[in-house]
Amino acid sequence: MNVPVITIDGPSGSGKGTVARRLADVLGFHLLDSGALYRVTGHAGWLAGLDPTDAEGHAALASQLDLRFTTAADGGEAILLNGVDVAPAIRTEEGGARASAVAALPAVRRALMALQKSFAQAPGLVADGRDMGTVVFPAAVLKVFLTASAEERARRRYLQLKNKGLEVDLRALSKEIEERDYRDAHRAASPLVPAPDAVRIDSTALPPDAVVAEVLALAESRLMIHGGPGH
Ligand code: C5P
Repeated sequence: MNVPVITIDGPSGSGKGTVARRLADVLGFHLLDSGALYRVTGHAGWLAGLDPTDAEGHAALASQLDLRFTTAADGGEAILLNGVDVAPAIRTEEGGARASAVAALPAVRRALMALQKSFAQAPGLVADGRDMGTVVFPAAVLKVFLTASAEERARRRYLQLKNKGLEVDLRALSKEIEERDYRDAHRAASPLVPAPDAVRIDSTALPPDAVVAEVLALAESRLMIHGGPGH
């Protein structure tokens, strides 16, 4: 069956996570947070004492992740790895850095491919990441590439972490984000680049609601043309 897929790619702090979640809610589609898969793989490797450059070791872990995305008692997200909630651990900047290191390993990217594709279930999927439109779902009905200025992305990330009660230094955070963006954009395997047919949206001066409205309008017109749910 041809399940409609909408891809939202972009750097960290561009707002793609929020936009993807709201879009999936409004459309009643499934959601793939592919960054979480790389974060969990990095975390699992760290738990197993693997060297961050150990491609085969991390690929073996990635190919047999026992994962469940669910809701925590406080209403927030819970990501169960072997039954243990790793969401708080993987959502830190350290978790992001580990994810970015293992995401540069082609064997890990290959190992996560089938799992990512398996999220494409009726009535549809919103997939959020770096290479959703370029590599994993090249036939997506709508591809969005979301950006925002580096300062704005660091500011958003700062507020996000602060809200979680974490101690953060804005200058150190900006530097970490810059380094991660550079590594993601310059790696050989699936670098962060917009698909040629992606719609680019700069969210620097836009509230999330405005971005969601813009993407939703695009999605609705594409789904009508391509025969989405109910067509
Ligand atoms: O989106 P998030 O910040 O959770 O992603 C964490 C890291 O995982 C990114 O910095 C990137 O290195 C990697 N990633 C990736 N491909 C994806 C999603 C995330 O390489 N599709």
